[in-house]
Amino acid sequence: MTTSLWRQHILPFTLVLGLLAAATLAGDYFLHQLNLVWVGRYLGIPGTLLIMLSLIYSLRKRKVITSGNPKSLLAFHEFTAWLGSLLVLIHAGIHFNAILPWLAVVAMGVNVISGLVGKLLLDRSRRHVQAEREDFQVRGLSQSEVAQAVFWDAVALDAMTKWRKVHIPIFMVFVVLALGHIISIFLFWGWR
Ligand code: HEM
Repeated sequence: MTTSLWRQHILPFTLVLGLLAAATLAGDYFLHQLNLVWVGRYLGIPGTLLIMLSLIYSLRKRKVITSGNPKSLLAFHEFTAWLGSLLVLIHAGIHFNAILPWLAVVAMGVNVISGLVGKLLLDRSRRHVQAEREDFQVRGLSQSEVAQAVFWDAVALDAMTKWRKVHIPIFMVFVVLALGHIISIFLFWGWR
């Protein structure tokens, strides 16, 4: 029990977060070594675009778009949000001039952690509803219909609904702060 909790939840959680921290430090280090610190300034743009791209999953989930496999789109959401956050973290670097973008970084960090907690919860829910699979099979649904039904059930479980009440407001705070920073940058555009 303790081993499975460690192996299934705590280890992946720590790895994903640790990798983000390590890649940020490595990215920042190499930009400095190669005298490419200016590149970091621009990394805010692809980082933001990747985070926006990650929202395709939210659109699929709310049926704004109806095509695309939800499970693969969730994996895409996790990957693009992670990579986008990495680029934004390298972009933020260790320069401290303004408070607003740093508040946005903090909100983004909390968002990433909350995302990982959600992933952990979803994994548990999925195991929980896995038992339903046989029942569906008895009722003669096809393999892919069963996989889809189990996925949606896991997403809909109560724990997930409660978690979403935290993840989405944190994301909104991040959006407002990031927008404040982005708008002020473009208003006073004058990069060299
Ligand atoms: C379209 C997207 C973005 C653009 C064009 C952009 C642009 C910039 C620029 C030009 C700077 C340098 C400002 C200066 O040296 O005075 C900067 C700094 C910074 N940006 Fe962004 N950014 C973007 C997205 C983001 C996002 C999404 C975050 C946070 C989540 C962020 C966090 C920061 C931080 C922490 C700094 C350092 C501020 C400081 O020097 O104290 N940026 N950004």
